[in-house]
Amino acid sequence: MFATEIPGLAPVAGPALAEVAGVTVHDTGFDGRSDVVVFEAERARPDVLRTGLTEDVFVEVGRTLRADGDNPAWIAGRIWRPERVQRALSVWAGLVRPLGAAMTFRVVARVLHERTFLRTDLRRQLTEVIRRDRPRWRFADPAQVEVWIVEYAPGRLVAGLRLSDATMRQRDGRSVEREGALRPTVARAMVRLAGAAEGTLLDPCAGAGTILAEARAVGWSVQGRDIDPGAVAAARANVPDAAVHLGDARKLDLPDGTVAACVSNLPFGRRYRVEGDPATWLRTVLAELARVTRTGGRVVLLAPDLPRAVVPAPLRLRDRYPIRLLGTKTTIWGYDRA
Ligand SMILES: C[S@@+](CC[C@H](N)C(=O)[O-])C[C@H]1O[C@@H](n2cnc3c(N)ncnc32)[C@H](O)[C@@H]1O
Repeated sequence: MFATEIPGLAPVAGPALAEVAGVTVHDTGFDGRSDVVVFEAERARPDVLRTGLTEDVFVEVGRTLRADGDNPAWIAGRIWRPERVQRALSVWAGLVRPLGAAMTFRVVARVLHERTFLRTDLRRQLTEVIRRDRPRWRFADPAQVEVWIVEYAPGRLVAGLRLSDATMRQRDGRSVEREGALRPTVARAMVRLAGAAEGTLLDPCAGAGTILAEARAVGWSVQGRDIDPGAVAAARANVPDAAVHLGDARKLDLPDGTVAACVSNLPFGRRYRVEGDPATWLRTVLAELARVTRTGGRVVLLAPDLPRAVVPAPLRLRDRYPIRLLGTKTTIWGYDRA
């Protein structure tokens, strides 16, 4: 099997997949758009679809190396082996929907370079091979069966049938949408870095409440603050059992050491700016987060840069994951509260 992740998140999503019983992670890579985690599952387990960190999950139909025959017809013929496809289809049928004789299908191809052939040539060749093997299947977009072929490391190709649909990465949607809302899979990765769900998790810049929703889903009690009344209303609507109040992250209304974790997507980037000097804002907010977090707790933040000078002494850097969101570079920073 394999899974696709937000670029930079494979080191967080891989271990989450490996915790699913019967799963062994074999390899990770990048296909030019997404991180890819290649793994084996003893049985086709629905749990592999439920880590919350993954964008899409696939059951593998085959793999090959470009070095053995670097042309699209050869690769397509080699990767689509009818007996292996049959096994993958029975997994697909068990997890997605029963198979009919006449199905619709489409092919998605991603390659790391186009020096010897184009991505579209590979897609066309694989479509032809599938048509020959499955004469009653019909090409359509969108389609019931999505076949992806991705070059996840230089020269290494894997192909599979997509088991997940958009609800895996978008959940059931938010009842109130707001600009700049975080991708749920990134929010879930940040919540994972906050450690075991014991006690209260605070998002001091909660926006539409994505982090709060993901934290609730894994068992945290959650508190949210935001300086914007519209955000407070949105987070309350999206996460009805969260305690969300109007508040300023620079001066939180919480006593010292009362939360186990602070997790937040700070207001930096294309859509949000802070009042005044950004370094002063960050220094003030990080000092507040260190104050309200108990010793042994964690602070996990998404921000393009958190220079050492803005981080107070009790916060010790533990994780640093550079990621790419909508083509923009940013970083997840994880601190232990000493
Ligand atoms: C990037 S958004 C958070 C998005 C959120 N993670 C979501 O998924 O919807 C940053 C939020 O910080 C809030 N904010 C800005 N300055 C703040 C401050 N001083 N205190 C609290 N919230 C603040 C903004 O109103 C905005 O909602």
